[in-house]
Amino acid sequence: MSKTFKRTLITSALPYANGPVHIGHLAGVYVPADIYARYLRIKGEEVLFIGGSDEHGVPIALKAKAEGVTPQEVVDRFHYIIKKSFEDFGITFDIYSRTSSKIHHKTASDFFRKLYDKGEFIEKSSEQYYDNEAQQFLADRYITGKCPHCGNERAYGDQCESCGTSLSPLDLIEPKSAVSGSVPVLKETKHWYLPLDKHESWLKEWILNQHKEWKSNVYGQCKSWLDMGLQPRAVSRDLDWGVPVPVAGAEGKVLYVWFDAPIGYISNTVEYAPNDWEKWWKNEDTKLVHFIGKDNIVFHCIVFPSMLKADGSYILPENVPANEFLNLEGDKISTSRNWAVWLHEYMEEFPGKQDVLRYVLTANAPETKDNDFTWKDFQARNNNELVAVFGNFVNRALTFTQKYFEGKVPACGELTEYDKQTLDDFRRIKGDLENYIEHYRFREALKEAMNMARIGNKYLADTEPWKVIKTDQQRAATIINISLQITANLAIVFEPFLPFTANKIMKMIGKEKFSWQEIGCISLLEVGHAIQTPELLFERIEDEVIEAQIQKLQDTKKANEIKNHQAAPLKPDVAFEDFAKLDIRVGKVMECTKVPKVDKLLQLKIDDGLGGRTIISGIAQYYQPENLTGKNVCFIANLAPRKIKGIESQGMILSAEDANGKLILIQPETDAALGSEVK
Ligand code: MF3
Ligand code: ZN
Repeated sequence: MSKTFKRTLITSALPYANGPVHIGHLAGVYVPADIYARYLRIKGEEVLFIGGSDEHGVPIALKAKAEGVTPQEVVDRFHYIIKKSFEDFGITFDIYSRTSSKIHHKTASDFFRKLYDKGEFIEKSSEQYYDNEAQQFLADRYITGKCPHCGNERAYGDQCESCGTSLSPLDLIEPKSAVSGSVPVLKETKHWYLPLDKHESWLKEWILNQHKEWKSNVYGQCKSWLDMGLQPRAVSRDLDWGVPVPVAGAEGKVLYVWFDAPIGYISNTVEYAPNDWEKWWKNEDTKLVHFIGKDNIVFHCIVFPSMLKADGSYILPENVPANEFLNLEGDKISTSRNWAVWLHEYMEEFPGKQDVLRYVLTANAPETKDNDFTWKDFQARNNNELVAVFGNFVNRALTFTQKYFEGKVPACGELTEYDKQTLDDFRRIKGDLENYIEHYRFREALKEAMNMARIGNKYLADTEPWKVIKTDQQRAATIINISLQITANLAIVFEPFLPFTANKIMKMIGKEKFSWQEIGCISLLEVGHAIQTPELLFERIEDEVIEAQIQKLQDTKKANEIKNHQAAPLKPDVAFEDFAKLDIRVGKVMECTKVPKVDKLLQLKIDDGLGGRTIISGIAQYYQPENLTGKNVCFIANLAPRKIKGIESQGMILSAEDANGKLILIQPETDAALGSEVK
């Protein structure tokens, strides 16, 4: 039985303000939430779409400490970068605020206090690690030590990043404080706990029985949590960054970040609508939907609802369409490893192409399982789908109108069976499209939208108005009229998915606004209505551009290997006879000059004891030519000569990398005879 609602409150996970946002954020949370919000708005429904930055928590405090700045400075830096990225990509939040705001501190503090006064928490003391030198309790992340499972020396108190095991600080062998480096001691501390066990039975009924329609990945995760049995969860921490616990004697304690962050949705609503925020949160007619990634499921389906229920005056979410993760070129996206496509960088490298990314991320969204973003797929979808189908169709319809009908919508004559068939096919899609969006299946929905463009493209290819115009002006006019009506329809259909493109189409067809209900209508553009000069909706993306992106990622990998001092994997064994084929020698640099117009190359004249030779070497970024003269080097003497930039290079200088990836020459320990063999 599905309920009917009067309005929809859409929330999207508040990203941590400790780094910029990347394609994983966009694909998992913000694009789907934005599609949903835009769809409801264009249908004329009452919608509120909430976003904001999550600015508390240990990683932010830790980053500030590492940089020697305040946590507020860290979040100020990233909040605005993140906010700007969302604007750039057309994410239509009604408000994008932040949890370090006054209004949030008050809302979260009051929320806690009400639950405290109602006796909804339990108080418990336990022993936790304390740093005597720094005089503070240590959050799990502030303690490092040896992993009991894999022996990694740099495991954290909550997790070993080497073997992935979750840990408790007490598991660590030889624990050390990340704050002062001293050995921490155990000390008693008091915290407040939300007794989730007391909420278990209504949660089971509410989720497992009443929300069987939730996505299977979400339902499944909830079920396994509930089957395992819930435990009380601490909602406070010993930390100096966050919302202070509003209870006497709780100095030095703040609300746990996962307690205050979801309250951020409420604070932002209060900030947006101070007078009628309650209709969004406390009225059964409101449909509350949380868009999140899979790592947030337990907090949004179990913890936050328990908080809302404990208060007693709030509604619960109607759905939590969480997505799985998007990987990048086969590896998990990671902020700390810089393994990501950052949105602010994309904007610089692909200006005006926000919709291409929105398209690819939706077409490939990790809705039911983890998915992979690859640059090749990005290019293929752009070139084969957006350019070849959608863009091609719209462009042909519009340029044809310019060329043969003076830029005015020509009159439609009698429809053929084929015309009618096309329009029927076209109209039939609307229902499926809506159904998919309403069930949070945006990939499928986009596929249907694309099918509409495909129908248009096929219609033009089949009817060939460029041939017909030569013999039958009236028939060509009909074909173009229909194509223009389909084009106008596409502007509506694509508005939720590709808003910049929809907007461009609207400009070109000289219209201000349509409503969703008009989809299927074939009189959106009146006869004689003037269209504007067409411009291309999409352009091809060439191989070089894609290769440059792939190269950029490879450079990142390389830099990470160096950072982690990770030696490259060994190559397969070679037989001694193969090794003996190499003629490695010692020589002395006689002359050295830069190869003109190339950054990386030096030209060296080597005394090899055999009359001298020239070698080109890619070390120009690391050595000044004048500093090399007179130096001993080792080189491969029998490498087949190669022409490099027009100069014959007779061998190869041997070098290695230092810990920063800088090339350093391999030299004999003392002066060797010139031309002596290295064995
Ligand atoms: N900052 C969290 C994350 O990125 C999400 C917080 S969602 C909220 O994983 F509900 F707590 F706001
Ligand atoms: Zn480990």
